[in-house]
Amino acid sequence: MSKKIIIANWKMNPLTFKEAEKLFANVAKEVSEIKKTEIVVCPPFIYLEKLKKLSRKISLGAQDAFWNEVGAFTGEVSALMLENFGVKYVILGHSERRALGETNIDINRKLKSAISAGLLPILCIGENDRDENHEYFNFVKSQLLESISGIPKNLLYKITIAYEPVWAISTTFNRRDATPTDSKEMTIFIRKIISDKLGAGMKMPRIIYGGSVNNRDAGEFLEHGGVEGLLVGKASLDVKKFTDIVKIAENEND
Ligand code: PGA
Repeated sequence: MSKKIIIANWKMNPLTFKEAEKLFANVAKEVSEIKKTEIVVCPPFIYLEKLKKLSRKISLGAQDAFWNEVGAFTGEVSALMLENFGVKYVILGHSERRALGETNIDINRKLKSAISAGLLPILCIGENDRDENHEYFNFVKSQLLESISGIPKNLLYKITIAYEPVWAISTTFNRRDATPTDSKEMTIFIRKIISDKLGAGMKMPRIIYGGSVNNRDAGEFLEHGGVEGLLVGKASLDVKKFTDIVKIAENEND
């Protein structure tokens, strides 16, 4: 397995740059000894520029990027603009964006433009709920295949696939805990879909898990969840919780 990756999705937080700077600087201080774990922070767009100067160890990611490079698209920011600016990763297809109307077709266009701009996409997929007939496997399969449709096989490894069951995300109404077994089952399924598509000998995309990960269960997910990293929302706004998760990943790398 490759080196572990821990990604913070700050979502639309915190409210002021002052708080963002404090959070980022404190995280950077706590992870200064980390050597083997890749750390990514995805703040709101407007904080990217200033945070870029605060740590070399932490890579920056955006939470979305538009598919056209430049032009008349009010309110959008392009993948190429982000890349030119020094951003390395971009979250695409997050369930909160899908809930606002984003489709697999939109996500497919965004993935293609992110890859051609040189960004590394973090593609979020995951079912809204589970059903007794296990239809959710087909749901995730279509999300995945429609999102990556037409992307050359030799570029698929650039994508980090984040399995995020929506029912386990911290802000979901009536949320339930997902277990490392839930994650493991789905990652086996996802790896099979990708390896059927790629055939033997091709470099595989990395798969990570997200959904209410905290410093108490991060180790379990990394050890038994079949994943090479974690996408952390709520707990990434808490310096201790987030940096504990990074340290747990670092120990898993040993
Ligand atoms: P959560 O968010 O850790 O707060 O559940 C994860 C995400 O939505 O990416």
